[in-house]
Amino acid sequence: MVLIDGKQTAATIKAEIAQQVADIVARGGKRPHLAAILVGHDGGSETYVANKVLACKECGFTSTLLRFEDDITEEQLLHEVDKLNNDPDVDGFIVQLPLPRHIDEQKVIEAIDYHKDVDGFHPINVGRMAIGLPCFISATPKGILELLQRYEIPTSGKKCVILGRSNIVGKPMAQLMMQKQYGDATVTVCHSRSTTLKDECRQADIIIAAIGQPEFVTADMVKKGAIIIDVGTTRVPDATRKKGFRLCGDVKFDEVAPLCSYITPVPGGVGPMTICSLMTNTLLASQKKIF
Ligand code: GUN
Repeated sequence: MVLIDGKQTAATIKAEIAQQVADIVARGGKRPHLAAILVGHDGGSETYVANKVLACKECGFTSTLLRFEDDITEEQLLHEVDKLNNDPDVDGFIVQLPLPRHIDEQKVIEAIDYHKDVDGFHPINVGRMAIGLPCFISATPKGILELLQRYEIPTSGKKCVILGRSNIVGKPMAQLMMQKQYGDATVTVCHSRSTTLKDECRQADIIIAAIGQPEFVTADMVKKGAIIIDVGTTRVPDATRKKGFRLCGDVKFDEVAPLCSYITPVPGGVGPMTICSLMTNTLLASQKKIF
């Protein structure tokens, strides 16, 4: 069994990006600039955004963090998005999700100029991704593809089961894994209503678990030699930890790992790669390599 080290892979990629940025700046080019909007004080979002700002530093990017309280109106937030759309120094930006309930998330996503949509959430990027055109690919699926590539894991013609149908992970992952230029696999998507989920998993060469239920994938669902990618990051209470919780994946790691050929741990698997892909997208945006 090979443990896929997302932390190390992400560190390698960030060092590669930092080198490219140093070269660009040495030639008199512009330093890439990522901005992030964070609304409210959700613990998970605070951590994600802090890690994104830190990653910008590691890559030699400029970063701007714009923070607003929960009571910001939709109109005010749309105005902030518009300011970033029109700021020539900002190459790309994200609005950290989830947003408070009084704000229409989709409206905000659609207000982002798709040329700067480094999260790849705008329908133009999603649509272009679905038909294999150049676009910003959302960070988690992109990070998973990168891990599969860097570990030289063959996917062409394999049976890939994706657990979960979210717009951020499940749906784009399915699109990418089926496309000839990416996964080139036979893809099945299972979700909370799938009646044959366990059977589908048992037949899978690759399982990508993004269902958000801690330890959902158990040993009886996994074929010997399967490749397991765990996207889960549920916070479960743990009094032995300083923060009072630990991150728990969607896979029951201890019993599943011995069966696998490759597996990602939680933490230290997909998570660090997600942020790394956002950095790659920001570099691409600053170089106008996509649009
Ligand atoms: N919330 C959870 N994941 C993400 C992400 O990748 N981007 C943004 N903007 N919000 C998120």
